[in-house]
Order: sequence, then structure tokens, then C-alpha cells
Amino acid sequence: MTAASVTARSVTPPDLTITPRDRKFVREERPARWWNGGNPVATALYNALSATFPEGEAFFVESVRRYRDGAPPKLAGEIKAFTTQEAIHSREHAVFNKAATATGYDLRPLEERVHWRLGLVKQRPPIASLAATMALEHFTAILAHELLRDPSHLAKAEPESAALWKWHAAEEIEHKGVAYDTWLFATRDWPPSKRWKVKAKVMLLVTRNFIIDRTLGSLELLRQDGITGPSAWARLVWFMWIRPGMMRKIFAAWAKYFLPNFHPWNEDDRHLIAGFDLSGDYGQASAKKVRGSRAG
Ligand SMILES: [Fe+2]
Ligand SMILES: [Fe+2]
Repeated sequence: MTAASVTARSVTPPDLTITPRDRKFVREERPARWWNGGNPVATALYNALSATFPEGEAFFVESVRRYRDGAPPKLAGEIKAFTTQEAIHSREHAVFNKAATATGYDLRPLEERVHWRLGLVKQRPPIASLAATMALEHFTAILAHELLRDPSHLAKAEPESAALWKWHAAEEIEHKGVAYDTWLFATRDWPPSKRWKVKAKVMLLVTRNFIIDRTLGSLELLRQDGITGPSAWARLVWFMWIRPGMMRKIFAAWAKYFLPNFHPWNEDDRHLIAGFDLSGDYGQASAKKVRGSRAG
């Protein structure tokens, strides 16, 4: 398969622009310990996610960027913008995690688990890292979609922290096709059946690990709050799966990944980003140079 025919398989909107917005959050207004609506459970889940981002997103950058050389120019440009966005996300979540640590949480057990998980993937060939990144990028894109679709998720959160999560969510939607298109390019010589099998298998593994690790991470933070035992489990399961039930709400979008003609841009949800841009919730300034980031 040629590079041109790979590009033709992608349904990424031709007029899509990926714009790194070099914003800074929670520098002056530090989050309270229970910044998410005064609710330890809601705070624990978001904090557990945030703990994964600095190392996790650096891993995404590394996994995708090694395919940039030789990629068609449009894809190469998107990879560049993707790596810049993810590098800024890593930087901002590192600051956010530091603020959470300042309120008394110890995120190290969560960070160590991410490090261990990624270490296992890195022992495999590079295409495994790309497949895992593609699966996790679908996860983040559908979580981001739900977060922006329903404002009640962050309605009670402190405004500065909510702004960080919405900004991150918007950029996750904007670059949701990049890892996928990189995969189409990297596996252009594979038969479609092999491509589907690897993609599906990796998604199932990633999903199992994501659910286990985020659940254990949230429970660890709740333990640090003195909330333990069946009560901690029940409250967390209720929050994740029942109400607001983010995991339940993303299930249909998650399952679409297994359709043979799946592509992240089969659903064009840029209206969710446009709304935020127009309301001025975050700036539009393009990041020409990102200082202090781990990649770019
Ligand atoms: Fe990100
Ligand atoms: Fe991403």
C-alpha cells in the first residue's frame, strides 16, 4: 500500500487544524485538597487520571514520533502538532500533580505503577507502543467528548482546575485521529485482518489495565483520605459506573473501536471544541515554542 492510499483510508477532516494552546493553570490559584466539588471520590478519580499523564503522555509522544520520518507531509505535520500538545499537557498535569501533593496526597504509588506498566510495553517492538497509544488515545478522546458534552461533570469543580481539564479535553478531541492515522501508515503493508486483530487485542488489554489501575489508584488516594474498605469500593464504583457513570456513558463509543471501518473521525465532534473557543474559556494563541516541555 502506498503512502497516498493510506492517507485516503483516513477520514480525518481535511480542514482540521491542530493548534497547541500554550496555557498555564493552577499557578496562582492552587486547588484545594478536594477540588472537585468538595467530593473525595470525584477528586480521587480525576487525580488518579492526572497522575498518569506526565509519564503517559511522554510515552504517547515517543511512540508516535518515531514514525514521523517518511510519513506523508500532512500526517508528519499533525504528528508535530500532536507532540507539542501532549508535551504541554504533561507539563500542566505535572504542575497540577504537584499542587495535589502540596495538599497532602502522595501520588508516588500511582506514578510507580504507570512506570511499571509502560516499562512492560516498551520491552515489546515499537509497533506495540503505537497500538497501545492508539487505544489510549481513543479512551482519552471519548472521555474528553463526554466531559465537554455534559457540563455537569465539572460543574462543582473549582474553576481553575475545571479549566485545565476542559482545555486538555478539547485538545484530545482535536488530535484524536493522529495516533490512528500514524498506525494506518505504520501498518500499511499489513493485511487488514492482521491489523484488526492486533488493534482489537491491544484495546482489550489496555482497557483491562486502565480500569484496574485507575480503580486501584483512586482507592489508594481515598485510603490517604481515611476512606477504606467496602465503603470506598462502593462509592468509587457508584461514581465511575452509575452516577455520573462516566465509564458507562463512554461504553458505546468504546465498542465502536472494534468495527472494521472504525476511525476516530467517523464522529466529527469539533462543535464541542468550537463552543469553548468561542466562549473564551481558553486562549487561541499558538505555541511557537514550548519551553520546559519534554518533547516538541
Ligand atoms: Fe493529552
Ligand atoms: Fe492525546
